Amino acid sequence: EGSKLWGGRFVGDTDPIMEKFNASIAYDQRMWDADIRGSKAYVKALERAKLVSTDEMEQILHGMDQISDEWSRGVFVIKPGDEDIHTANERRLKELIGAPAGKLHTGRSRNDQVVTDMRLWLRSAISTLTDNALQLITTMVERAAAEIEVLFPGYTHMQRAQPIRWSHWILSHAVALSRDVERLQELKKRVNVLPLGRPIGFLLPMSSCHLTLGFDSISLNSMDATGQRDFVAEFLFWASLCLTHLSKMAEDLILYSTKEFSFIKLSDAYSTGSSLMPQKKNADSLELIRSKAGRAFGRCAGFMMTLKSLPSTYNKDLQEDKEAMFDCYDNVQAVLQVTTGVMSTLKINQTVMEAALSPDMLATDLAYYLVRKGVPFREAHGLSGKAVFTAESKNIALNQLTVEDLTGISPLFGSDVSSVWDYRSSVEQYSAPGGTAKSSVAAQVEHLRNWLKKH
Ligand code: ARG
Repeated sequence: EGSKLWGGRFVGDTDPIMEKFNASIAYDQRMWDADIRGSKAYVKALERAKLVSTDEMEQILHGMDQISDEWSRGVFVIKPGDEDIHTANERRLKELIGAPAGKLHTGRSRNDQVVTDMRLWLRSAISTLTDNALQLITTMVERAAAEIEVLFPGYTHMQRAQPIRWSHWILSHAVALSRDVERLQELKKRVNVLPLGRPIGFLLPMSSCHLTLGFDSISLNSMDATGQRDFVAEFLFWASLCLTHLSKMAEDLILYSTKEFSFIKLSDAYSTGSSLMPQKKNADSLELIRSKAGRAFGRCAGFMMTLKSLPSTYNKDLQEDKEAMFDCYDNVQAVLQVTTGVMSTLKINQTVMEAALSPDMLATDLAYYLVRKGVPFREAHGLSGKAVFTAESKNIALNQLTVEDLTGISPLFGSDVSSVWDYRSSVEQYSAPGGTAKSSVAAQVEHLRNWLKKH
């Protein structure tokens, strides 16, 4: 079929099934803007190298602007034979301006073009994701600041551990997200590189192109430039890790929203009902947030398998990069926004949260009481454990043990032991950096607020 970009040496038509199998236009049309920006920068370099005249350049630039306008108004018509976004835009350019359109591809390969488009697209996607993540972190930090007084049980192994502040829990997740933002900024440097393929490098001084398009640097080796997708693999892993963090937070919140816990109430705006049981309110938003990490990691692992053992430079296998990248982007973006909504609208039940604290959660503090009287911690731990056992056998709470019960365990116990049975002072004793004391949590809030200002 002579009408194909590469049709010169071909006889007869492509099998329609092959045509469909080969095409990426259904999904890579999302990069229409990047593709046009890339071509506009490229034709300027061609003009400087005197490979197109100034008049031809003007025609191409004008045609590209018209195409851009068609895409943005949603009226660009994809025609049969538009294999991908690069062929579609070039085909349209030819319809609009005729022969000079054929000069645009001088010294350029789609292998350079596709990876340039992807890098431009991902660069702006990263900006959007950064904004979304910063908004979520801001929501969480301000919520922590507003609810700093609220105490509730801390868990390890999902067993009741020690009293903590609810704000401390919120910030534990905000801190993980702040690392995700930093990781994304690191990754952006490696995305923002102009991939210079050999055909281009052979003909053109590309420095102008790289500046026009706002790239930080130019790739060092042409075979590497077109044949690697490290930046995509890194992005897929980034999405997997960020969604893993959010899945963990969602899991905690699902548990806290059950009737059994009743620590939090999800807003109706982020819940759904049961088609059968009228009383139900399900945490579907949180369950979907929890689910997406699996999907992202599937994309990441799948794409790594595609990359493994590929021969050097471009191979069509690499076309698989785009659906993975778009899918991960769409999911992280949606999850960040929904999580922001969930976190800014859920209601906490402070009374229930604080009533859920129980004296056994102060057993560590009971051991510290003895430590303060000179008992080595290991021994104090054992003695406090004995107290827990005694209370359990008597079927009473740990703080119901009499001073006689306790002095039976260690003569160092005295009536001042009553000072241990206070949740708030328990939380307050952890005033070192990263701790649960109000001053420590307030310092975390301040740290994150400053961090947010810098990002
Ligand atoms: N649609 C292709 C892709 O996504 C563009 C590059 C095609 N290159 C080629 N030599 N056939 O990778």
